[in-house]
Amino acid sequence: ARHLLGIDHLAPPDITTLLNLAEEYVALNRRTVKHSDALAGMTQINMFFENSTRTQASFELAGKRLGADVMNMAVAQSSVKKGETLIDTALTLNAMQPDLLVVRHQNSGAVNLLAEKVNCAVINAGDGRHEHPTQALLDALTIRRAKGRLQRLTIAICGDIAHSRVARSNLILLGKMENRIRLVGPATLMPSGVSDMGVELYEDMSEGLKGADVVMMLRLQKERMDGGFIPSEREYYHRWGLDAAKLALASDDAIVMHPGPMNRGVEIDGTIADDINRSVIQDQVEMGVAVRMAALDLLARNLRAERGRAAAEVM
Ligand code: CP
Repeated sequence: ARHLLGIDHLAPPDITTLLNLAEEYVALNRRTVKHSDALAGMTQINMFFENSTRTQASFELAGKRLGADVMNMAVAQSSVKKGETLIDTALTLNAMQPDLLVVRHQNSGAVNLLAEKVNCAVINAGDGRHEHPTQALLDALTIRRAKGRLQRLTIAICGDIAHSRVARSNLILLGKMENRIRLVGPATLMPSGVSDMGVELYEDMSEGLKGADVVMMLRLQKERMDGGFIPSEREYYHRWGLDAAKLALASDDAIVMHPGPMNRGVEIDGTIADDINRSVIQDQVEMGVAVRMAALDLLARNLRAERGRAAAEVM
């Protein structure tokens, strides 16, 4: 495929190929000299219309470690602030001949729309509550490394599911890999229609966590709640925050995940988040760089092949 816009269009062998390549980049990133020429001569532009720490930093590092020329568009100082639309901004940058465009946007579907207008490869770095494909892929790599497999696991995704693009992308990916998925959280923060997707729904944390191999905690995404239900943080932590007592109900060797940014004392107890025997939160960050390198590398190969075919047709 030309773009990476979501998990839907990836088949299980595509996911495995990407994760296997990412493993090679994990090894490279642990060396003192972390350099490859996979993107040499190519230009990567990162456009983040919404705040980010992990995704923005890891895409920038990923592109640089692969030898691309990487430009981060400073949205706050750009003409977006003068009213220029997303599409006009994208067309302007497209005219500068980038090869790869990494885009985060607050509106669901914005990145898909943009991908129709440009002639480079586009990677969705998170759009509204729709998809965050590289997050699901880095979560998959983290799970595979920690549990030794990515199939036949009981995975509890907990918290604000309704507003979470991370939950949505993970649900699709982990479902494709034949895992048992539980969504756990307040009924008011469950999306509609998920019960048809072969997942189990739980409002009670102690039921939802029982025997789970993986416990994935999510942030309360107040910025997307549109004035709807916002529980008090104290009440929320009491019922749905991950503490030692609730974690004790999961498997003895269950791992704890969180995509970040994390609100300690709201959805997760800080001691659990920092417990290196249970928490793989920092591994997720490390895998983020490697998975983004693999995604950039594979899209660059596809782009070169596509351009090669187009050049051959012209001759
Ligand atoms: N997990 C994630 O997308 O984090 P950032 O918002 O910091 O990029």
